[in-house]
Amino acid sequence: MKGSIFMDHHILMKNVWKKFGEITALRDANLMVKRNTIHAIVGENSAGKSTLVRILAGIERMDKGEIWISGRKVKIRSARDSLKLGIGMVHQHLALIEDFTVAENLFAVGMDDPLNIVTKRRLRQNATKIMERFQMNLNPDSKVSSLSLGEKQKVEILRVLKDEPKIIILDEPTSLLNDMEAEDILRMLKSLKMEGKTVIFISHRLDEVMKVADEITVMRNGRTIGPFNKSRMSEEELFRLMFGEERTEFEVKYDESKTGEKILEIKNLRYDQKGRVLLEDVSFTLRRGEILGILGFSESGVDLFMEILFGLRIPSGGRIIFKGEDITFKDIMDRRELGIGFVPADRRRVGSCLDCSIWENVVVNVRKSPKISGCFFLNTNKIMEYTTKVLRICGIATMDPDLPAKSLSGGSLQRLIIAREILGDPDLLIFQEPSWGLDMLSLQLLKDEMLRMKNEGKSVIVSSKDYDEFVDVVDRFLIFHKGKISSEFLNDGRIDKARIVEAMVGKVEKMRG
Ligand SMILES: Nc1ncnc2c1ncn2[C@@H]1O[C@H](COP(=O)(O)OP(=O)(O)O)[C@@H](O)[C@H]1O
Ligand SMILES: [Mg+2]
Repeated sequence: MKGSIFMDHHILMKNVWKKFGEITALRDANLMVKRNTIHAIVGENSAGKSTLVRILAGIERMDKGEIWISGRKVKIRSARDSLKLGIGMVHQHLALIEDFTVAENLFAVGMDDPLNIVTKRRLRQNATKIMERFQMNLNPDSKVSSLSLGEKQKVEILRVLKDEPKIIILDEPTSLLNDMEAEDILRMLKSLKMEGKTVIFISHRLDEVMKVADEITVMRNGRTIGPFNKSRMSEEELFRLMFGEERTEFEVKYDESKTGEKILEIKNLRYDQKGRVLLEDVSFTLRRGEILGILGFSESGVDLFMEILFGLRIPSGGRIIFKGEDITFKDIMDRRELGIGFVPADRRRVGSCLDCSIWENVVVNVRKSPKISGCFFLNTNKIMEYTTKVLRICGIATMDPDLPAKSLSGGSLQRLIIAREILGDPDLLIFQEPSWGLDMLSLQLLKDEMLRMKNEGKSVIVSSKDYDEFVDVVDRFLIFHKGKISSEFLNDGRIDKARIVEAMVGKVEKMRG
């Protein structure tokens, strides 16, 4: 068999099919990965990327197909089988234990466990050793809850690396990271390759793929195209393969006549840092009854802009006018009182107080509302009644409201914050990457709520790095690129996704006006 495609490839997935009920996630998909290469899988949302690699990692079972590893046909029935074959996978969503330290997370044991001091020291040493090897300098004793998203992602990766897999799969490891953090991860992928590993890297940021990949497989609608050698591909060609020629019709049609008065005006916002202009000329108007999508990759300035909207950063220039009032220099609490609600991306650091009780977290935005206040003091009964209602909506009715918020799982905390903000009944609700960690049902419910708010004449802003996550509800998109609004798309039912993505990566010239 030497010289056959079976021998030449480290990984070969052949004619793989997978259905989830009515949905066909994979239709005759193929993956051919050469040893000691970085192999990128690209494709738009729902193309089947995660499903394909989850089969390799033993998390999903394929309906039909073959898998060959190092020239040998294998059966992967479980994550354990996969690990034995030398495959390790870093999943799309973070799943660290927030209250454990870095070292504890790496080795999945709590140091409070009855481990002796020697064991503890060894754990720490092992953690340090592996971090040094991959040039990731984190403090092994830091609590994960205190880390940035980039650092958390590194811990996730280290956790997989410590098992010494020969094949490492990373499912969108950079999608939540800022530019610098993402660069770090890309550097790391290269160093893994230097160590002789085979790397499968899923991303929909084509600029990243072009930077690190040797070979590329494109996925579209459950099918695979490729592999292509990177040196023979341009970004444009990849686009075309990802989206095909078809034009996507949107369901929602933007109807300007149905919008109300101006609620928010952003005037010439600018943000400088150390002499660099990170945000410039950002101006737009939002009306009542509008859902505005803000899109842009990590380096685009979207997150910076969102932080300015939240009141977490003061702009270097420009104005924010909300309901006619200048709120440029008001803090988040003042903004809340004027009727703005916030769901930030990093809920553990910004959206909640982890050491405070669950009920305190629930009522933070309704402190002055009759929902919970009595004549002079907070009304305890009302607070508990209200908190119970919120917990029920989040599907965690059995949680004790007196427990600290940190006892909630990531997903529950997220649902709690989203429910809290919606129930706070703001005139404007601002979401930053709200889908992160939400299951599909919760995401659908969230979209329903957005539409309800819109119909009630409220306004919504939602930022996302995923261009098609909210297309079914958003009226209008603003695309950020290099710190500016590069283009605007009205959801008139005729824009196509490929053009949105092109704008996100800076392919489209300024087309606003
Ligand atoms: N566990 C599941 N149950 C039902 N449908 C699923 C499941 N996992 C994935 N899907 C569906 O399969 C398709 C492919 O999903 P996925 O592999 O996650 O795509 P990608 O990672 O490219 O975004 C999507 O339509 C998705 O909704
Ligand atoms: Mg995926």
